[in-house]
Amino acid sequence: MDNYSQVVKTAQDYYNSDDADNFYFHIWGGEDIHIGMYSDAIRKIDEASQRTVDTMARLLDPIAPGSRIIDLGAGYGGAARYLCKSFDCSVHCINLSETQNDRNRELTKAQGLQDSVIVTDASFEDLPVEDAQYDVVWSQDSFLHSGDRQKVMCEIDRVLRPGGKIIFTDPMQADDCPEGVLQPVYDRIHLDSLGSPGFYHQQAELLGWQNAHYEEMTFQLVQHYQRVREELQSRRSELLQHVCADYVDRMLAGLQHWIDAGSNDYLSWGILRFQKPGH
Ligand SMILES: C[S@@+](CC[C@H](N)C(=O)[O-])C[C@H]1O[C@@H](n2cnc3c(N)ncnc32)[C@H](O)[C@@H]1O
Repeated sequence: MDNYSQVVKTAQDYYNSDDADNFYFHIWGGEDIHIGMYSDAIRKIDEASQRTVDTMARLLDPIAPGSRIIDLGAGYGGAARYLCKSFDCSVHCINLSETQNDRNRELTKAQGLQDSVIVTDASFEDLPVEDAQYDVVWSQDSFLHSGDRQKVMCEIDRVLRPGGKIIFTDPMQADDCPEGVLQPVYDRIHLDSLGSPGFYHQQAELLGWQNAHYEEMTFQLVQHYQRVREELQSRRSELLQHVCADYVDRMLAGLQHWIDAGSNDYLSWGILRFQKPGH
């Protein structure tokens, strides 16, 4: 799209590239490319990633059958398919990466869910949908790529029906993060800035959202990046059939910056939930 901002175009080029597509699809977690929630019993990346989706769905207690959900920055659509199968709802996936959207449509068709999961090429900064259409706005680890998170929050408010719920995760900077320490973190995936728990709560207050809830689990971000890094190291030669060596080396170094920043409490990650007032 010609009207995307520079930050949005950067994210689009990054996720459309063959290297990123192969890395995320083969190493990061397959259908789910967000931060997983690990436990003593759950060590595998795909199982931990699925657990994050489960936990978020449970926090919506529960999703009523027939609910209309919009997933912002939907990746390969793993969460959308899981939600449709588990809760008999419909999900509109918004994603600016055409490469990921093609895979999403293929996977969705293969699972016979094409009537429940709709995929649109678009930016969540400018949603091509009418007002008050959705019962739930869902998003996982996508808003970090935005250059205008205030606009994203306004778009969420616009498309959500009164009484609808907002649930999302986002790798953020901690509210008390010192100036300048996160540049190596931004550089891994060409970020411009990060949101913070304080920023999202302030935006929610401005929009009049209620029932704010933040389940802070930054240790899961650290564990997830460690697990992805281990996987990348152990499957390096297999991945080199799909991804160039320079990308792999930069990714290994970049993931370590995120692990260090998370371990130093410069980052914050968890599940945020709000509700728009009304019925
Ligand atoms: C880390 S991935 C997470 C994908 C998915 N939510 C998941 O959990 O599997 C970030 C996603 O955000 C998408 N994205 C980034 N900026 C976007 C924007 N402005 N509008 C729509 N999608 C965006 C990317 O294309 C990518 O699919």
